[in-house]
Amino acid sequence: MVRTMSGIQPTGNLHIGNYLGALVNFVELQQQYESFFCVVDLHALTQRPEAAVLQRAVREVAIGMLASGVDPDKATLFVQSHVPQHSELAWILTCLTPLGDLNRMTQFKDKSAQQPENINAGLFTYPILQTADIALYRAERVPVGEDQDQHLELARETLRRFNFVYGETFPDPQTVRSKAPRVIGLDGQAKMSKSKGNEIGLFETADETMLKLRGAKTDPARLRKSDKGTPEVCNIFSYHGYFTSAEQREEIAAGCRSAQLGCFDCKKMLAANMEAVKGPIRERAAVLRSDPARLDDILAAGADKARAAAEATMQLVRERVGLRRKD
Ligand code: AMP
Ligand code: TRP
Repeated sequence: MVRTMSGIQPTGNLHIGNYLGALVNFVELQQQYESFFCVVDLHALTQRPEAAVLQRAVREVAIGMLASGVDPDKATLFVQSHVPQHSELAWILTCLTPLGDLNRMTQFKDKSAQQPENINAGLFTYPILQTADIALYRAERVPVGEDQDQHLELARETLRRFNFVYGETFPDPQTVRSKAPRVIGLDGQAKMSKSKGNEIGLFETADETMLKLRGAKTDPARLRKSDKGTPEVCNIFSYHGYFTSAEQREEIAAGCRSAQLGCFDCKKMLAANMEAVKGPIRERAAVLRSDPARLDDILAAGADKARAAAEATMQLVRERVGLRRKD
């Protein structure tokens, strides 16, 4: 059976970019593929979080995945560090990855600029651990946002190299895109991101969201309500594309162009439509938070299943690279 694999870092609160760019596809793909979804805590160590903060974030991301519709009866949901084979395979792949390939990674440059006081080697080799995540499950489908394109390309090259050197072992992992591969942040400048403070949290209440939307930029040429707007250049209207029906979007666009509808009312409609998606997720998350033992059970069962699949791959890998005694 074809497998799908993806991971989310426990480095902050999930936002609607994570939901629209990745989680929506997790829920879709689990219907037809054998699915492995992972909270990648080892990746998060590149940002040196406090231990207690990391622990809490791991649980919150797992809760977010479940509340968004990841079904532990269909998919294997687990924490990366609970499956030590991730680190083992990462080392083997590290020895196959040219420095030049890693040097090209723009995320390394971005992260280095974001945390100049902590440019550690893990930030540099980060995409190799990600390659190991995918390869351990021999995944062929990887649902991620557009920001992961370069990492996926590196993963494909590395796994092709492994196959060339040691014999055909890993399939070629294909990226799976959602309808929102790059959700722009509230600042309208860059992609929505946990580290930029430009996000709408998945668990935020309608009031919290409205407060953020109130301050968000719209069409820069529309200074007063009486000015006619251009929805195509408005970041808020781009969000309507993800949450609002085609019919209501047409009404909004017409109202904006004719200056009948003000930005504040347009934002209120968006907040209400977002709430229709976020509300039920927030409620399911609250139920999950109230029963920590249940979450522990789900993650323990997930780790067992993931370890079994990972160990099967590692036995083959160890043999191919010459790390296993055959006597
Ligand atoms: P991260 O939080 O960086 O671990 O990202 C988790 C998943 O969400 C990855 O598949 C990302 O590509 C995706 N993602 C993060 N930010 C965005 C965004 N602004 N738009 C679309 N997808 C995103
Ligand atoms: N690097 C990814 C991100 O920041 C997270 C990730 C880690 C991942 N391992 C993965 C995504 C494996 C897909 C497959 O978003």
